[in-house]
Formats: sequence, structure tokens, C-alpha cells
Amino acid sequence: MARGKMIYEGKAKILYEGPEPDTLVQYFKDDATAFNAEKKDVIDGKGALNNRLSEYFMNGLMQIGIPTHFIKRLNMREQLIRKVEIVPLEVIVRNTAAGSICKRLGIEEGTQLPRPIVEFSYKDDALGDPLVPEEYIIAFGWASQRDLDDIIALALRVNDFMSGVMLGVGIKLVDFKIEIGRVWDGDFQRLIIADEISPDSCRLWDIETGEHLDKDVFRRDLGNLADAYTEVARRLGVLPSNAPQPSKPTLVN
Ligand code: TMP
Ligand code: ASP
Repeated sequence: MARGKMIYEGKAKILYEGPEPDTLVQYFKDDATAFNAEKKDVIDGKGALNNRLSEYFMNGLMQIGIPTHFIKRLNMREQLIRKVEIVPLEVIVRNTAAGSICKRLGIEEGTQLPRPIVEFSYKDDALGDPLVPEEYIIAFGWASQRDLDDIIALALRVNDFMSGVMLGVGIKLVDFKIEIGRVWDGDFQRLIIADEISPDSCRLWDIETGEHLDKDVFRRDLGNLADAYTEVARRLGVLPSNAPQPSKPTLVN
């Protein structure tokens, strides 16, 4: 399928015009960035893995009635998606304390939270995506109170789904980030899951060993990022046939 002209380039993905007016082609790059792109690298195979993994999670969400922007995967690096208007928020759900909540509140990493916590960051790279209270979101018109109620309900459903899927393959879903898109069916607005769901936007810990299987491997220099993502894909049975093989030595007998 021929893609149209490029309309947006982000840190990990590129969006092109799609074949129909309300569609886009989402291309997954191999670029990895952290700390608002202060740290950068190119990780062979990451784009293909995230394309597959995001397809897998979005398909699963749609099967349980959670609407997403995903239409179909086109090839190794591209998927056809529905064009949405992105709500300018990063919606974060936390089950276990890790990352910024530990720094902010002095909680030890790995502490189970009393219940899933939903928080919002305002999507603005120049400001470093600051954490914002609901009051700001409503006052500045980024989303209405009703949108926020729907977004929280969606985020908690995604959390239950993703937690269950990961638990089934021996992985703890520590936290994740999603983005929400608005679409219109006539005058009727709906909110759907957009962007991507992948180990770039989740924290995933092996239940037995605590090993990190997400972008913290890159953020914290814990090893080979593609190996970690390949392990997640392998456990879920969605490994692309030409994914990079683990770089660890294997025993031959
Ligand atoms: P944090 O602990 O750094 O706030 O991250 C919470 C979750 O959100 C974690 O799963 C990583 C994800 N995340 C993104 O997907 N993009 C980002 O820009 C940041 C800062 C975090
Ligand atoms: N995605 C953000 C960046 O590129 C931050 C992160 O995921 O750590 O800088």
C-alpha cells in the first residue's frame, strides 16, 4: 500500500497520510530516546518488535470492546490506523511504584501501590511533559470533566487487560502510558486508545527474577533492549520471523 506524504515525525514513530481521508500510516522507527531525548540510540529491530506488540495489544483490547485507532498491520514496520485528534495528555497508570513517583514521593521502587493510580502529564516536550492535576486539564480546556471520567475508565480497563495478559506470561505490569484520541461519528464524539502500547511505554518486570523487560533497560543501561523486547514478544507468541536473535550465548549439546 502506497503511503502518502509525511505529516508528523516523533521520537519513535513517523505518521504518513493513509489511503483513505480518515486514516494514517504509522511507521515504527528503531530510534530509542529517554529523558526527553537527552539520551538517544538506534536499536536494530525495535521498530518491528513494537509494531507487532502494539498490534497484539490493540487487537486484544478491541476483542474485549475497548476501541482503539488500530486498523491493520501493513508490514514489518507500518500499521494502518484511524486518524484521531490526540488529547494532549499522557495518561499514566501505576500498579507498583517505579520511576518518577519514587523520586517525587520518596517511595522505594517495587512498593505495591494501595490501588492503581491514574495520573496525567501535559504533552509538551519543551516543558518536559509536566505532571498536571485534573483542575488544569479542565481549566485549560485540554479535556472536559466528562472526557476525563471516560479516560480514567478506559485507562483502568486497559490496565486490567494488560495486567492479565502479562501475568499469563510471567510478567508484572508495573505501570504504563497511553494516549487518547478523539474521533467523531457525525456529531457524536468518542474517545479511543491511540499512539502505541509497547515496552517503550510500559514497565514490565519478570515475576520470578524481577528482570526489566522494557525501556528502562535502555534508560538505565541494564543490557540489550532488543533482547528484552524479543523476550516479551516470544512469551506472547508474536515474534516476527526475522526478529533479532538474543545476543546471549546458547548452550549446544
Ligand atoms: P515515569 O515513572 O517516568 O513517570 O513513567 C511512567 C510510565 O510512563 C512508564 O511506564 C514509562 C512511561 N513513559 C512514557 O511512555 N513516555 C514518557 O515520556 C515517560 C516519561 C514515561
Ligand atoms: N519518551 C521520552 C523521551 O524520548 C521519555 C522516556 O520514555 O523516558 O525522551
